[in-house]
Amino acid sequence: MAVDAKKTEAPKGKESTEYTFVSVCRSDELPEGEVRQLTARGKEIAVGRVVGGQPFAVGGRCSHLRARLGKGKLEGTVLECPWHGSRFDVTDGCVAMWVQRPGWLKLLNDAAFPAFMKQSIPTYDVKEENGEVFVAVD
Ligand code: FES
Repeated sequence: MAVDAKKTEAPKGKESTEYTFVSVCRSDELPEGEVRQLTARGKEIAVGRVVGGQPFAVGGRCSHLRARLGKGKLEGTVLECPWHGSRFDVTDGCVAMWVQRPGWLKLLNDAAFPAFMKQSIPTYDVKEENGEVFVAVD
């Protein structure tokens, strides 16, 4: 999807020139309970809308092995990775459940296998204006 680089007003306290909202899709392209893989200013992001109507945007790649989170499944505010099932809270990017490693890998040190170290995902501010969804990316 093409990104409209139109700048909009940044929220209070985030007036930095580095902090710019960009249009990523129309509001009606984001139904409740769904998530999409989009690009904003060259960054892959997963943009969705929780049941109840609140839109969200998080990093587009899973912190485990970089699966596209926009292809994941949303349940409430939890987004499940389509590859190995790690789950992330889209409100703060925190890990709700990390991938279960096979039994033989449990014997190995986490530091030797960074892919198995639990890592949150980035979150981005989102707003809707005039039927468009805007995400703040730097
Ligand atoms: S790539 Fe997401 S859990 Fe493995």
